[in-house]
Amino acid sequence: MAYKDIRTLMAQLEERGLLHHIKQEIDWDGELPAIMRHLYKQGPDGPAVLFEKVKDSSIPFLSGIMYGDEKYSMLFDTEPNIRAIADHYHENFHNYIKPVIVDKAPCQENIIQGDDVDLWMFPSPKFSPEDGGRYIGTQNVTITADPDTGIQNCAIYRQMVINKNRIGVNCEQHSGIHLAKNREKGLPTPFAAVMSPPPAVMVAAAGKPPFGVDELELAGGLAGEPIPVVKCITNDLLVPADAEAILEGYILPNSDDWDLEGPFGEFHGHHNDMVPKKRPTAVITCITHRNDPIMLGTPPGVGPNELTYSGKIEYAAANLAILQAAGIPGVKAVNVTEMSGGCQVCVVQLTGKPFYRGIPQACMYALFSHNNFPKFVVVVDDDIDLYDDGMVQWAIAHRVQPHRDIIITPFNSWGCALDPSIPFAHRGHPYSTTSRMGIDATKYFKDDVVFSSLVRDTPEMEAHVKEIWKDLGF
Ligand SMILES: Cc1cc2nc3c(=O)[nH]c(=O)nc-3n(C[C@H](O)[C@H](O)[C@H](O)COP(=O)(O)O)c2cc1C
Repeated sequence: MAYKDIRTLMAQLEERGLLHHIKQEIDWDGELPAIMRHLYKQGPDGPAVLFEKVKDSSIPFLSGIMYGDEKYSMLFDTEPNIRAIADHYHENFHNYIKPVIVDKAPCQENIIQGDDVDLWMFPSPKFSPEDGGRYIGTQNVTITADPDTGIQNCAIYRQMVINKNRIGVNCEQHSGIHLAKNREKGLPTPFAAVMSPPPAVMVAAAGKPPFGVDELELAGGLAGEPIPVVKCITNDLLVPADAEAILEGYILPNSDDWDLEGPFGEFHGHHNDMVPKKRPTAVITCITHRNDPIMLGTPPGVGPNELTYSGKIEYAAANLAILQAAGIPGVKAVNVTEMSGGCQVCVVQLTGKPFYRGIPQACMYALFSHNNFPKFVVVVDDDIDLYDDGMVQWAIAHRVQPHRDIIITPFNSWGCALDPSIPFAHRGHPYSTTSRMGIDATKYFKDDVVFSSLVRDTPEMEAHVKEIWKDLGF
């Protein structure tokens, strides 16, 4: 395991034949994302893609670096299977390593300030025909700092180009708290968008450590060494030194000054608003970038895709940490299903017969009470492979009586502001509420119900069939 930046990762992908170069000019307006979506349809084992020439820009565009076991495993040099990848993320979820400040940084090899700032230099795609604009940030890491403690927050929030020096930022979760604190005092919020960050920073920023944890420290834990950071040129935020580019600036305090942003075709496959809305707007005071920078981004959509794959790893680690912190005995493992956008359906596996009644329900309430995801929790026994969605469905079908084993909470818990199923009147930051559902698909403590062992052949009969297999003409 070693710290790496995007260039190191690209070289490794290249070595393994997992980086496909497209040399012909590709249009940012729909064509680039359509190529990626077509590639995703062919399964998770395809290459990442470097679009060397995107229309209207001299900057290449990289996409697909985290989709599937093999490519994701290269971020941290783990074994290329989902269990090893999930274990690595989870084992390091509390392993915080502080970043190290450097004076000279590749991301500041070039400095563009004032009137020279022109965000149109980047090949930002329009990801779907109904999108309200070109999105410069689908994997950019937003950095803000808590005005009370100085602790920074890193998160991935979508970012739309408004004009040459303004972007709309869907800044709602932890950085939204920083923004709210500053706005109360009428103050701007110092802002940095980290473009093509080191992979550890990107997956830490998409992850869900508690408010008050600087994800750069989680990134250090995941990478196994401190993340080098440098102070921005026009504000005091610390940003990853080896990123490809940094957009520095501040978010305007007064919502009257904000611009319209969206709609945006989201990770769940819908446009969560059909009309543009005023959203936090960042004025960009400075662009710094490496020589020959590379832009990183990824098309959202129904999935499976890069977002749903990486989401399930990051949210599974966070959810397991919540259950462990709650001290619920007998929790073995957690998965988040990829087709739930990598966030909305969480499967919890127990180690065996619970020590007492109510443990599946304790898991559900612990998860319902922490984050805005998951909306659904399914608890299964250790005879169900929690990475096998088919077996999870099987457990639901055959071990559940809806009237007895399903909990539906009132419509009052923190919901995902982007969830397209939430009525409009209750959707959007900071109002989003949701109901949640827990399904106890375990076998135990179900009144007088006794499940027999699973239908299977005896080991002797299995051995016998193997022995005669060829004689049977297979
Ligand atoms: C590509 C991508 C785009 C995302 N866009 C948003 C977004 O626009 N708004 C949002 O609140 N979360 C978004 N998320 C999810 C957040 O990054 C994630 O919930 C993260 O934990 C938020 O960090 P925070 O808890 O520090 O706020 C996105 C995630 C990814 C991977």
